[in-house]
This record gives sequence, C-alpha cells and structure tokens, in this order.
Amino acid sequence: MNGIRTCKTRAGLSSINKTDTELVIWKRSFPSSFQEWINHTDAENLPVVRILINPIELRPALEPLLDLCGLKVDNLRGQLVNDIEGLVNLFAQVTQSNAVDVRLQRITHNACWKFHRDVVKTRLVTTYRGPATEWVQHAQAEQAILEQLNYKGPLEHLGVGDVAVFKGSRTHPNRGIVHRSPSIAGTGTRRLLLCLNQQTDTSPKPWVEVGKNLSHPKVMKSNEIVLID
Ligand SMILES: [Fe+2]
Repeated sequence: MNGIRTCKTRAGLSSINKTDTELVIWKRSFPSSFQEWINHTDAENLPVVRILINPIELRPALEPLLDLCGLKVDNLRGQLVNDIEGLVNLFAQVTQSNAVDVRLQRITHNACWKFHRDVVKTRLVTTYRGPATEWVQHAQAEQAILEQLNYKGPLEHLGVGDVAVFKGSRTHPNRGIVHRSPSIAGTGTRRLLLCLNQQTDTSPKPWVEVGKNLSHPKVMKSNEIVLID
C-alpha cells in the first residue's frame, strides 16, 4: 500500500479520510463540448476568484463573480458552476468544514514550479484547462525535492478534469504528496485551476450576500492571488 488511490466517482474521494491514504484521484474527462468551450474561452475571461464560502451559498456567490469576469451565461458556464458546486460540497463533507476557501484561477505562468508538499491538512485540486498538476510517488519524493529542476526520475501527471484530494504536511511532518505546477511559461498556454482548502488565517473574510456587505472581495487581479497547485 503506497497511500495512493484512484476512484471512478466523486463519492470515492472520501477515501482520503482513511489513515493509510494520502492521495485519491478521481479519473474523469469532461464532455467534449464543455472541454472545447473552456479551451477556447478568451483567456481574459477566465476567472480569477477567491472566496470563503459556505457550500450552500456557492452558487449565489460565484455567479456574479463570473459575470464580472465576462463569462457569458449559457449552458456551458452552467456546467462549470455545477461542477465547482459539487466539488465544494464534497470537500466540505470530506473535511467536515462549514466554510471552504475556494480559489478559481487563470494561470499564465509556471505557478509553483518547485516540488513541494503543501502546508495544509487536506487540499482538492482540479484543472479545467491546460496541463494539470505533476506529482511523484513516495519513493521519489525526497529526490525530487532535492534535485528540483534537475530531477529526471519518474513523474506522474494528473489529467485535465481529474480531481485530486491529497493530504499535506499538516497531517504528518514530512508526509504528504510531493508535487509541482507544470511548466507553461513562454508557451502561450493558459490554465484554469480550481483549488479548495479549509479555512485558514490567510483566507478572505466569509462571503456575504451583495447588498448586505459590499466590501467583500470579488474578482481579483492575477497577481493578487498566490497560487499554487
Ligand atoms: Fe502545492
């Protein structure tokens, strides 16, 4: 048992709570119409959003933010929102959290290119567009961290659409999946990444319905979010 599991359904991701499991991957592909849409959406309209949200408020919180990003309301955008809503609900359930720190970000650079472990208990990532997160098996973890760009050993790749839930170093020191962002700088590639975390000291203030609190953070500039596969 190497702590790595795969599953065929969203519900299978809950196996991350088994003590011997450090990574669960839901292998999936999007319908071609959805993938085509997200791949060909003008990069300027890809969202850059961060909110701390109770899952039941995800939809009313996210829809106006996507409007501000210039994403036209249609069935395909609806599929994106449905997918995010499902994952936020799942993550809240798995981590027994009332609030989820949601980052949905257009990425135009190499993001977190160094091999690292996340300083979190549990994180969920999925890539809607572009190359997805790279990771290494435990046997190569220390070598990858030591050698960084010189590392030429075995490398695992998530696929676009795959959902990964993994434990970070806050579960056990020096445990957690070693991973990095794919290299895209200078290629013109644009990624769209969803990253879900539990609430921390660096999370934004909880989302409050517009009209009750207009000071809540909304769409952000790319450089205002430090992200991070
Ligand atoms: Fe990371």
